Amino acid sequence: MNERAMCPGSFDPITYGHIDIIGRTARVFDEVVVSVFDNPNKKHCFPCEKRLQLATESLRSFPNVVVERGEGLLVDYARRRGIKVVIKGLRAVSDFEYEFQMAQMNRAIANHVETLFMMTKPEHSYLSSSVVKELAGLGADVSEMVPEIVVEAFTERLDEGWNGDSGI
Ligand code: PNS
Repeated sequence: MNERAMCPGSFDPITYGHIDIIGRTARVFDEVVVSVFDNPNKKHCFPCEKRLQLATESLRSFPNVVVERGEGLLVDYARRRGIKVVIKGLRAVSDFEYEFQMAQMNRAIANHVETLFMMTKPEHSYLSSSVVKELAGLGADVSEMVPEIVVEAFTERLDEGWNGDSGI
């Protein structure tokens, strides 16, 4: 049986924390679908097409990982793609409440998808796209936190006048 898992998120932008979780998922499942969604609760620094491109290029070295645009409800998307398992990374207790609510809500509206949690590596426990955006917007060096292509994308956004607060 071809076991497929989904790693959903807004990936604004993808970080080494995401890449670690996706890479470890790719060692456990036959195929990993990384689905890039818009999150209506967040202001995005990068439009979806750019987030997709950054994730695709950053994950190129994993042969069993595909990156796609996610649309609509996560549970509907999973059903259409024949996916029964969603993997989420957990950094700290602070992530738990939000992730617990989403997992319970997804279960309430559909029971064909299981959400499983994977602990991040300790060295990534402080890393989040939001913090990276704040740092990059203030001109800090984030090259230890995100791939080079993302650093370049931040430079382009700064050249466009982005300052870390404004978003799409
Ligand atoms: O990286 P993020 O921003 O925490 O990812 C959140 C995401 C994209 C996984 C979440 O917003 C989501 O599942 N969106 C799809 C729409 C949906 O199903 N929403 C109901 C969630 S209970």
